[in-house]
Amino acid sequence: MNDHDLEHKLRTRSARVAVVGLGYAGLPMALEFARAGFACVGLDVDISRVDAVTRGRSPVSNVADAEIAPLRRDGRLEASTDPSVLRRADVAVICVPTPLTPTGGPDLRFVETAGATLGKYLHPEMLVVLQSTCGPGTTSGSLGPILEQTSGLRAGEDFYLVFAPERIDPGNTRFSVKNTPKLVGGTTPEATRLGCMLYATCIDEVVPVSSPEVAELAKLVENTFRFINISFINEMALLCDRLGVNVWEVIEAAKTKPFAFLPHYPSPGVGGHCIPVVPQYLQAAATEHGLIGELIPAANRINEAMPRLVVDKLERAISQRVGKPLINASVLLVGITYKADIADIRESAAVRVLEETFARGAQVAYHDPMMPTVRLPDVTLSSVGLSDAEVSSYDAVVLLTPHTKIDYDRLIRSARLVVDTHSALQPREAPNVVNIWLPEAATPAVVLT
Ligand SMILES: NC(=O)c1ccc[n+]([C@@H]2O[C@H](COP(=O)([O-])OP(=O)(O)OC[C@H]3O[C@@H](n4cnc5c(N)ncnc54)[C@H](O)[C@@H]3O)[C@@H](O)[C@H]2O)c1
Repeated sequence: MNDHDLEHKLRTRSARVAVVGLGYAGLPMALEFARAGFACVGLDVDISRVDAVTRGRSPVSNVADAEIAPLRRDGRLEASTDPSVLRRADVAVICVPTPLTPTGGPDLRFVETAGATLGKYLHPEMLVVLQSTCGPGTTSGSLGPILEQTSGLRAGEDFYLVFAPERIDPGNTRFSVKNTPKLVGGTTPEATRLGCMLYATCIDEVVPVSSPEVAELAKLVENTFRFINISFINEMALLCDRLGVNVWEVIEAAKTKPFAFLPHYPSPGVGGHCIPVVPQYLQAAATEHGLIGELIPAANRINEAMPRLVVDKLERAISQRVGKPLINASVLLVGITYKADIADIRESAAVRVLEETFARGAQVAYHDPMMPTVRLPDVTLSSVGLSDAEVSSYDAVVLLTPHTKIDYDRLIRSARLVVDTHSALQPREAPNVVNIWLPEAATPAVVLT
């Protein structure tokens, strides 16, 4: 294989880059390649996403329209549903979903389908990068063989194969694709070198590792670390609740240790496409290799229980402060996406709180500036407004996902009772605010009417 052509094309930005999957991960990456000067095409099976990008509109909430339009005007960014665009690509970057199967195991269907499609158009000297989160061995042991079988070419001999995990945190205003270091692990040293060259054109720091497996595991370890820590602090919140101790004060006190402690905070649970999903890929690898793997199942159990426990606390707060059983109460839930300022409800703990509150018979409405409607198994709800009249008509307003667009001061002024399940109001206090993680004795028992 003569790698000089590809190297030259990467150096001169004349390489054509295809990004497969124009979602929360793929679109920001495609924009960075286009900004770096490459002609970039985004390939997606979802025509609505392709149409949006073609019209200069963003189909995902972590990318603004204004970021797309100039690149469309300059002709550096295209979008297509036609896989034959891969024929002319020098680089293909796969950013398709890696969800869970109905039984909770890794679901690699999207990676396999994308691989089979790409294999039809694969050509010698092409650089193929998998960015989708996956278990150790997926790049070498699953994607590689699919590409080889469909193309008749050999990874490492005819084309280059790399794993470079997506590590973005949608909504994070400090860290973006560009300033989050990129791990690059190729199936050969040359693949790693060329992968690093590609990402060095648009990412501030590129970190080569010795194999795809190291990069695959690093991604799983990062997210699992977060999942286990959040579940741990939620368990501590429950313990502090039993002990009558203020968990926030405990965390603040622990934080004064200048080393070896990283603060996490109580919440209704972890949601999203990544943090609760990725550890299951690690667990599957442990099981496959004969390890029991104790921590992830324990964290799963806590995470699954949290929304129900939050509704238990809500039920108690309404009973104590309003004097009504939940079944007779009207409740406005504020913020239902899986995290603040993101229009994504996948695996959202707040949606599970909504479902549980609904299932217990309360009259439930929600407000979310990012999510105009939500479909539950039995009902479709539309986001209500936050006028003073609307807010004051509910027995309780429950703060779930802390979107920054919400005027919490106004909400507190007009609500009869505010039940905070998160950190949105911390350390704000008002007589009609109950933070469910504070000991009952510390919250003044007054309801504004
Ligand atoms: N969303 C995040 O915050 C985030 C962060 C880090 C890593 N990741 C990882 O990135 C990957 C993608 O996640 P996402 O959130 O961008 O998903 P997404 O659902 O937002 O986007 C994936 C896109 O891929 C498209 N797609 C599916 N099969 C395809 C195919 N065969 N050909 C072309 N397009 C196809 C879908 O239509 C969709 O538009 C996952 O592995 C995820 O774990 C996501």
